[in-house]
Amino acid sequence: MSPLQIEKIRGFRDFYPEDMEIEKFIFQKTEEAAEAFGFSRIDFPSLEYLDLYRIKSGDELLQQTYSFVDKGGREVTLIPEATPSTVRMVTARKDLQRPLRWYSFPKVWRYEEPQAGRYREHYQFNADIFGSDSPEADAEVIALASSILDGLGLSGVYEMRINSRKIMEEIIRNITDVEPFSVFSIIDRFHKISREEFTEQLKSAGIGEEGASMITDLCSGTRSVEEIERITGKGSDEIGRISKVVDLLRSYGVNSVRYDFSIVRGLSYYTGIVFEAYDRSGQFRAILGGGRYDSLASLMSGDNVPAVGFGMGDAVITLLIKREGIQIPRKKKLVYMCRVGEIDSGLMNRYARELREAGMNVTVELINRGLSSQLKYASSSGADYAIIFGERDLEKGQVTLRDMHSGSQESMDVDSIVPHLVSLMK
Ligand code: HAM
Repeated sequence: MSPLQIEKIRGFRDFYPEDMEIEKFIFQKTEEAAEAFGFSRIDFPSLEYLDLYRIKSGDELLQQTYSFVDKGGREVTLIPEATPSTVRMVTARKDLQRPLRWYSFPKVWRYEEPQAGRYREHYQFNADIFGSDSPEADAEVIALASSILDGLGLSGVYEMRINSRKIMEEIIRNITDVEPFSVFSIIDRFHKISREEFTEQLKSAGIGEEGASMITDLCSGTRSVEEIERITGKGSDEIGRISKVVDLLRSYGVNSVRYDFSIVRGLSYYTGIVFEAYDRSGQFRAILGGGRYDSLASLMSGDNVPAVGFGMGDAVITLLIKREGIQIPRKKKLVYMCRVGEIDSGLMNRYARELREAGMNVTVELINRGLSSQLKYASSSGADYAIIFGERDLEKGQVTLRDMHSGSQESMDVDSIVPHLVSLMK
């Protein structure tokens, strides 16, 4: 019988060690930034009741869920996003002092068309502030998003684009009687379809020729916030709030903020400011996105908890890191222990343990092959140093230390190997 070869499912990824190095770098830098802003990590199940997303995530997301009826007859789904689970956790614990600053890094699943930077399973970092409706909270989450991207080495590569659902609602109500939310779902597709198709979809939704072309013009290109003040009138409360957020962002050193009417976000629960970070070169889709959602908690539990936050997938970040040639720093030095002849494994393990305790990563040869194969293997594993334990040298109490980068070697007393390597690490 021929072996049964089962392929990986479309839209899903395997992570080999070299891929995981990038993922680890993303996790580490992102978590460091979140902790630096005083956010605490939370986690939640990968499976939730489908009803959780029926509350206000929107039809598009519901259609993308990996949902099924479990053996107990419950209608459940792999989580397509983190926000509803996070809000569930917030509303379940009224004893917690708000504002809460929470972050999470779950895997999420969406049955979307796979393309560059979009998969059916991805890691999604989320950061949210619960219990503050201030512009300061809006600015803080956007500043955190920027700080993460800068920490990953992407400053200058991205641009923060903002809009407000409140402002868009006002504008749309001035243009047409068509329900603003149904217009948002068309605007959300602006970057995925041609201009002509976009105008056609607006017209099919019942917006007249003139209104459709006004919305198309509005969505084309980005503007400074000063320009928006001119378009919408400085007196509007919401534009005043947006200007405040942009001012506050300057105090965080975030200056690359543009106003973009095409950003309305696909999910239904946003109520105020919405934002996305974009690759300036325009090669990839949104790097991250979020906004204010003040009514989701009260829809879920009756508890009124204003909230603002964002989600950032690992996929576009990985593509940007590769495109920009960002070097992933390896923190710990790797030492490879080679053996030539009959060497007591217990002895090697004791030195390995001392080196690990001194903060080094150590791998010990298992196979006992020829020295050149061992060195080749050590080099392909990324070893910085090799310690060669040779049977004859050890009889004289000696080992050889090889610098795997320069190829230089020196013989030394086996007992001085640990202090010697420790001094080299400094
Ligand atoms: P979202 O815009 O649907 O928002 O997703 C946030 C981010 O997740 C996107 O900007 C992108 O980086 C990544 N992402 C989304 N779908 C995919 C995919 N199929 N493949 C790879 N990456 C993807 C939300 O999910 C909101 N819950 C975010 C939020 C948190 N809003 C407030 N708090």
